[in-house]
Amino acid sequence: MPHINFPFLGNSLVMALVIVVHVFFAFVAVGGTCLAFASEWIGYSKNSAFHDRFAKGYIKFLSDMMKMNGVLGVTFVVLLIGLFPEFATRLYNIFFWPLILEAALFMLMMAATAAYGNTWESTSNKAGHIFIGAVAAFAAVAATLVINAAWSFMLTPGTYFQDPRLLNAVFNPSFIASSTHVLLPCFINSAMFGYIYAFFKQRKAAADDAAYYSWMLDYCGTIFAVGILLQPLSGLSYLFTLKAVNVLIFDTIVKGVIVKFFWTMVSLATVAVSCSAVYLLSHKKKRKVLLAGGIAALTAFSFGAYTRERARKPFVIYGSMYMTGALVAAPKPAVETPPAPAAAPAKTAPAKPAAKPAALTPAAARHITEEALEAHGCLACHSYYGDGGTFGPALDAHLPHHTKADLKRILRKPAETMPPFDGTDAELDEFVNRLKPE
Ligand code: HEC
Repeated sequence: MPHINFPFLGNSLVMALVIVVHVFFAFVAVGGTCLAFASEWIGYSKNSAFHDRFAKGYIKFLSDMMKMNGVLGVTFVVLLIGLFPEFATRLYNIFFWPLILEAALFMLMMAATAAYGNTWESTSNKAGHIFIGAVAAFAAVAATLVINAAWSFMLTPGTYFQDPRLLNAVFNPSFIASSTHVLLPCFINSAMFGYIYAFFKQRKAAADDAAYYSWMLDYCGTIFAVGILLQPLSGLSYLFTLKAVNVLIFDTIVKGVIVKFFWTMVSLATVAVSCSAVYLLSHKKKRKVLLAGGIAALTAFSFGAYTRERARKPFVIYGSMYMTGALVAAPKPAVETPPAPAAAPAKTAPAKPAAKPAALTPAAARHITEEALEAHGCLACHSYYGDGGTFGPALDAHLPHHTKADLKRILRKPAETMPPFDGTDAELDEFVNRLKPE
């Protein structure tokens, strides 16, 4: 199957960007649906017109946004998965029934949200109307949990590959911790959206509207501030769950290649937590402080989402499938080690020197190496004289430090973060000769 490379950004980055944008709006939709339902209920039981107005306003905004985000989700996310065909097929295969359920929940959510928004004025049965809101909120939360099952599975597949039962995949080791860590931001983000909206509306509003927007600021501000104080707890519980499941994942996050993203998220989250504390302690007077905290939190969210994605690399399904779609081979100790040293000296020494040109210019040698790296997909992770990926070390600097025998050993049994060479010994010899052609 030919592999497509997305222009300019590369496959991984374009996928990450689209997912982060899509998930961001999906979170607002999920949290906002729950907020609207809860607010209508509170408004009904406490006879508060502001709660009812807020709930209605939020749902109107969401019905429009959901249409757009639905298109973004279905069109881009589903299409971009075509960049990772082996992975998509495999994941769809494992999660076939949950994904069918996901589609059904999604349709239920869309239908219930539309019915909820459209019958607000016309219905005289308020309790029945609140029930439709409850259905929409339930479907939104359930859809989030189902998709998060697939998502958390990609990072911690647990025992599934030893014991392939769907329940092992769904209730994988980080399912619960990651679900909390995902649901809380739904409320945080949707409350912050409401807060930012009210913040700017209030400045230009007429007197009676100003009272409403001021109420909305306090209402959304409180939900946001309390939520953001809790989020670090769910974050730590998720992080330490990952540590318990696989310390390598934990190390990658806190001191590996993504450490910059992780600590940027932590710093921004600290800003958001401090601003929320100041806001609550000031009895909701310091509104600009909370606005700054909200912007920090929304930015932290993107860094967090990116950290979670990068923590998995070079795997798409941690420990069992590489980004390239290649499966991680089950260990087969007897077959691969003995023939390699035996075949290597016998083959490389006599056969190859005779075949290669007598004197190779450095530029020609470099060209041969670059072509070989390109052909074997190494440049997805490594750079060579500036071209290629940044995930692995730069090979123009590193190749000269290794002998051919070293390279064969590295390629057959690389670090966990690099896929092993899966060709025959003859192909490996040929490849290594092209890596060091002189
Ligand atoms: C999925 C990403 C990925 C791919 C694809 C990949 N590598 Fe790597 N490679 C790495 C990473 C990450 C390291 C560093 C591992 C470590 O030491 O922790 C590495 C290390 C190496 C090293 C050792 C570097 C040193 O001096 O420490 C060599 C040599 C190497 N790779 C060659 C290759 C070649 C040749 C290919 C293509 C057949 C390739 N790699 C494909 C990720 C990758």
